[in-house]
Amino acid sequence: MDEEMLTLARAAMERAHAPYSGFQVGAVVRGGNGRLYAGCNVENAAYPEGCCSEAAAISAMVLDGERRITEVAVMGRGDALVTPCGGCRQRIREFADDATPIHICGPEGLRRTVTLGELLPLSFGPDHLRRQDEG
Ligand code: THU
Repeated sequence: MDEEMLTLARAAMERAHAPYSGFQVGAVVRGGNGRLYAGCNVENAAYPEGCCSEAAAISAMVLDGERRITEVAVMGRGDALVTPCGGCRQRIREFADDATPIHICGPEGLRRTVTLGELLPLSFGPDHLRRQDEG
């Protein structure tokens, strides 16, 4: 993971709207085009309407016309590793594969890199829905 990804993740985390949990998260995805897309969590007074940082970053990537994720960084504070939630693992899976690196970061920098396959083994993905007669 390069320094630019870390800097973007930190800036995104600092802008997160998380007044209810008090837990700000920043995420950055790298598209197949090499570009970086950042997102932050945005909570809501109607709690279930909140949005995770990974979902926001993926949305920015898709809006830019990119449909492949080659690398992900997630940053949060506290001692525990801030790994993507279950729903976001599946959201990442839509555009990535088992080998895609997920960099788990704290404000000080990289803490650990895992693969999507480690976070979401035996995953269900777009290939399952591809019709048999499709090439
Ligand atoms: N959150 C994220 O944005 N990404 C993660 O990977 C973990 C959790 C957010 C959702 C919610 O706004 C807050 O963190 C506490 O769960």
